[in-house]
Amino acid sequence: MTGLPTLRTLLRAAVVLLAFGAAAATASEAAAPDTMEQRVAACTSCHGARGEGSPDGVLAPRLAGKPVGYLLQQLEYFQSGQRRHAPMEYVVRQLSPAYLRQIAEYFARQDLPYRRWPAPTVSAEVLRRGEQVVLHGDPGRAVPSCVSCHGDKLTGFEPMMPGLVGLSSGYISNQLVSWRTHTRAAEGPYCMGVVANRMRESDIAAVSAWLASHAPPADMHPQPAMAQTTPLPGWCVMGHSEVNP
Ligand code: HEC
Ligand code: HEC
Repeated sequence: MTGLPTLRTLLRAAVVLLAFGAAAATASEAAAPDTMEQRVAACTSCHGARGEGSPDGVLAPRLAGKPVGYLLQQLEYFQSGQRRHAPMEYVVRQLSPAYLRQIAEYFARQDLPYRRWPAPTVSAEVLRRGEQVVLHGDPGRAVPSCVSCHGDKLTGFEPMMPGLVGLSSGYISNQLVSWRTHTRAAEGPYCMGVVANRMRESDIAAVSAWLASHAPPADMHPQPAMAQTTPLPGWCVMGHSEVNP
């Protein structure tokens, strides 16, 4: 019969915690500190304390160190409903443009090491196919190589082009599928909508597996904009988010 006292102890602890929480809330209202850490507390429960992503790498993506314009644009897409994800649409619904920009800048600034995800168990043949599409595309279906836009190091470019390094295979394939189902979309012709819809379904698994198992470069930061020397194809309309990093 130890269950009851334990429960009572727990309840007492909960009451103490609640009282402490209320006192802390009052104190913080009085002092009204408004740090970025407090503002992003609503985000870090899913995205990790500094935006390193959920521990499984799939549930909530990493935000830390992604190009600022890219992050801002995705927040705008969630707000306008172009990118659909109910919890994300909900958390950004009330936020002002200035606030969205500050949040994007905050996470873009976080400089944390990347995690390596366990390589998915696929055959060597699938990995070879993945590598081929990433490096050379699929000319028969007019799929450009991933490196032609994401950069030869696959680390992306400031301010708008995200990298494909440090992402889990589950996250990458989920995103490619969401462009095909239009849960991730944008107005007019948009880059990844075109790319993902031209891809073979089996190639989605292959590129996701190869990208996640490929050894990343030592410097995983997005490259500066001026390093982007390959012009984007005409149908790849980049966002018009007002970003001047
Ligand atoms: C309930 C969990 C949850 C909370 C809370 C949350 N997010 Fe997210 N967020 C997600 C998930 C899941 C995705 C991926 C959605 C998808 O697959 O399209 C995401 C995606 C994003 C992306 C796009 C990342 C990329 O690489 O494309 C950004 C930016 C983002 N969240 C920022 C925020 C910010 C800022 C907050 C706080 C204001 C926040 N999130 C709160 C779960 C959450
Ligand atoms: C024509 C240029 C272009 C090509 C080619 C391209 N991408 Fe992209 N990619 C983009 C742009 C621009 C974005 C920014 C997001 C958007 O469009 O919503 C992006 C975003 C992504 C993202 C989202 C990253 C994140 O953090 O959520 C993934 C994953 C991705 N691309 C995978 C690929 C793969 C795999 C290939 C090769 C098969 C590829 N891309 C080829 C332009 C391109």
